[in-house]
Amino acid sequence: MLKKVRVFDLQIGMYVVDAGLSWMDHPYLYAEEGPVTSEEHIGRIRSEGFAEAFIETEKSRQGRQDVRVYDRAEVERALAEALLETAGSRSNKSVPLADELAAAHAAHAGSLTSLREAMDAVASGTSPDCQACQDASREVAQSVARNRDALVCLGMLSESGGYQVLHGVGVSVLAAAFGDYLGLDRRQVGELALAGLLHDVGKALTPRDVLEKQGRLSDEEYARVKRHPVESCSALSAASLPQHLLRAIAEHHERQDGSGYPRGIKGAQQSFFGRILAMVDVFAALTQDRPYRARILPDKALSVLFAMRGREFETSLLERFIKCLGVYPCGSLVRLTSGDHAVVSESNPHAPLRPKVTVVFDQDFKPIHPAVLDLSGKEGPAPAKPTEVAALVDHRPQGVNVRDHLAG
Ligand SMILES: [Fe+2]
Repeated sequence: MLKKVRVFDLQIGMYVVDAGLSWMDHPYLYAEEGPVTSEEHIGRIRSEGFAEAFIETEKSRQGRQDVRVYDRAEVERALAEALLETAGSRSNKSVPLADELAAAHAAHAGSLTSLREAMDAVASGTSPDCQACQDASREVAQSVARNRDALVCLGMLSESGGYQVLHGVGVSVLAAAFGDYLGLDRRQVGELALAGLLHDVGKALTPRDVLEKQGRLSDEEYARVKRHPVESCSALSAASLPQHLLRAIAEHHERQDGSGYPRGIKGAQQSFFGRILAMVDVFAALTQDRPYRARILPDKALSVLFAMRGREFETSLLERFIKCLGVYPCGSLVRLTSGDHAVVSESNPHAPLRPKVTVVFDQDFKPIHPAVLDLSGKEGPAPAKPTEVAALVDHRPQGVNVRDHLAG
């Protein structure tokens, strides 16, 4: 279980983990993985200016027990409590996944192309033509209204196109899917998609050696990075975007506890769209390969976000985001408690730990006759014995092409 502690509260024996967060957003997060070994060790961490660290409680020999931490049972409890409040959240099944994949792919490709052109324009000092981005975002909104899972899984499985462009499209898709889940209307979902797509265009002006630096940023480099939300808004100033979208873009690195940038605003000072972009931005960054760090799997990324709830991110909004995606998002490869391997083919907002899956491999990754299994037990034949997801599995080392199995 992960928990986030202040460096002031570190104790000998606590096991620090690298949560995968960016130096650019968390320059004061100590992330050298391993146990805290001595008072001198703690003193060195403090003297180097670090403020916080994530620790793994199961590997820690001691630790305060009064801080709420992420675990599977707690996620289920928290989500069950939130269920009543979100009973009216929009359904995700108007079109089956297999029928939506082609349109989702076209919307995704359109978003990639339009964002690449916009970032090239910003880099060359010209004003980007946002019409193509608006058209692509409208298609994204239409696709998620038919089936949220299709674009979400395509966004998470896409690997070519360059990090900055893939990240912008990833945030666009996730923000749109979350907006649809929350019941926003089609126009608002399209606006969220557009703000997500363009949120980082200002990074086209940030020196590449800073964006791709492997280690901790210097104070000057961090100050340079922190200019990018404002630079995104400046680059878009001639594009006639609605004011509330520019505001959301300006606020995508702000945090509920005031620890964000560029203004350090708190709570309700951050707009609703700004709060959504901020949370989605971190999840998208963690689950994509970055130039300086490999991606982590969605369940670990959600556990990192969960450990930040009530501080950087609003708890109720975060719980809804987890419910929207499911702890095992569509397109994930999972190992079941039966030993077989399956591809998640449909998230389940009412039981985020029990999605619908298509079993495609045995325990040794030998192909088997595909079988659709609803782990919530609500649809289809009940399995011989209760089956759950045992773990998410990275599909890449296994050489599995998840897209081949998405349509069931
Ligand atoms: Fe950003």
